[in-house]
Amino acid sequence: MEPAPWSHPGYAHIFAHVQQRAGLQLPTCIPAAEEGIDRAMARAGEKDRALYLGRLTSDPGAFDDLLNELTIGETYFFRTHEHFDFLRHHALPELRRTRSPEHALRVWSAGCASGEEPYSLAVLLMEEGYGHRMEVHATDISRAALAHAQQASYSAWSLRSTGAERMRPFLRMEDKRYVLASEVRHRVRFHYLNLALDTWPSPESGISGMDIIFCRNVLIYFTRPTIAAVARRLYESLAEGGFLITGPSDPNLAGLAPLEPLLTGWGVAWQRLPPGAPRAAPAPPAFPFLPPTPAAAFTPPPLSPLPMVAPPRPPTPPPQPAPHRPPTLPPLPAAPSVTERLEPARQAMERGDWRNAAQLARAQEEGPEAAAMTIRALANVNPGAAATACTEATARFPLAAELRYLEAMVLLGLGRLGEAERAARQVVYLEPALAVAHLTLGHVLRRQEDLAGAQRAFRAAEELCAALPPDSPVPLSEGERAGRLAQVAHDERVRLETMMKREES
Ligand SMILES: C[S@@+](CC[C@H](N)C(=O)[O-])C[C@H]1O[C@@H](n2cnc3c(N)ncnc32)[C@H](O)[C@@H]1O
Repeated sequence: MEPAPWSHPGYAHIFAHVQQRAGLQLPTCIPAAEEGIDRAMARAGEKDRALYLGRLTSDPGAFDDLLNELTIGETYFFRTHEHFDFLRHHALPELRRTRSPEHALRVWSAGCASGEEPYSLAVLLMEEGYGHRMEVHATDISRAALAHAQQASYSAWSLRSTGAERMRPFLRMEDKRYVLASEVRHRVRFHYLNLALDTWPSPESGISGMDIIFCRNVLIYFTRPTIAAVARRLYESLAEGGFLITGPSDPNLAGLAPLEPLLTGWGVAWQRLPPGAPRAAPAPPAFPFLPPTPAAAFTPPPLSPLPMVAPPRPPTPPPQPAPHRPPTLPPLPAAPSVTERLEPARQAMERGDWRNAAQLARAQEEGPEAAAMTIRALANVNPGAAATACTEATARFPLAAELRYLEAMVLLGLGRLGEAERAARQVVYLEPALAVAHLTLGHVLRRQEDLAGAQRAFRAAEELCAALPPDSPVPLSEGERAGRLAQVAHDERVRLETMMKREES
């Protein structure tokens, strides 16, 4: 295995300790992790890394604080609303059919951070008539996050998704904070649990026989062996027929536990089937992908939609009367747009503070725009990390041409020409009219000495740019004008043709 590029072995020892206790994988951006360790050390009043390491073993607060630096406790109410829709329309109707009418639903938010996720689950179950028939457990390794969750006082930032409107009946304003009503708070039991340790499932841990588990955006932090062990334990924590939901960027659990993958329009949900139940779908591949193909014969396969789980049933009307709305509550803030949320990262980019920009953008990494900004920022400080970020991002957003384009550029810069060619061809396939994609493909092919291929690619770029008004900016070109890029592509093509003629004669 390659040694980690820590700037000092003290950091490596500190991280090894965290890895051993919490199962965390090496962060993508080592310099940012080092800065996080420095901040945690400063808060702990320690200047010496070896002494700090000793402190971590004896002081849970210091360990907690460091973990908060190395993972992002980012969460908000009704995050990824598709998951909650899946519960409402698919999981709950099935559980109603298979459980007795008195059954109290057992739900677990594993890695609950500051509590928005389990509280959203509680509200959904209340809406669905489970008011007095639910047990919602919520666990995390961060005691600070658990304390925040139990306080249940939130800023507008926690309410930024449109689904958060559903929390409104249960919030009241206090000192510019949104405070959650006790009728929701009392329905969630918070406790400390380190997912990386083999202390669960067990009746003592409170974790066993779950009907629904949400373990979202946590597995991404873990090493492969930890992911495998946690997947197995999540499976064992489910009651037969129970459902597990992971986050959109979490690793695929296929093959790690005998969970049944349920392919939905938004991704994969998992179920522990009762013994003897027929298995429906084959396990999905780890990443949607286009196969590597020889340059000239590239014909990408059709991208077929995933088969859907059973069509949704109409929602069950809530049997409880709608809760009373507090008259004093001001309207919830409009959810900030992606552009607004990325503004701090953009400003950091402008200052040339790439590390901070990458961290800020990564914290917002809900969509392809944030992923693209993370990659652009990382490319300036750590191209290897940028390439890894590209792999992750293109797996999450396989149809985002910008991400494939950035991948091609980063790989070209790293001299990984075969992979760069494949990425560039995928962009051309996804967006044939994107001039910069043809231009990049031309550069890659020329470096691979495929002169005829490069010539074709430059010609395509030239024609696409020439078809635009000369002053118009070319998409994804960082503001280059069409007239200038047409000239660049033209010059490249002519230079190649001259070379090819010289080779012929
Ligand atoms: C990004 S938050 C996810 C919050 C919520 N599940 C969501 O998706 O909105 C990740 C959480 O995982 C927690 N975490 C990291 N390592 C953990 C571990 N080994 N055991 C339990 N929780 C862990 C962190 O403390 C953090 O609160």
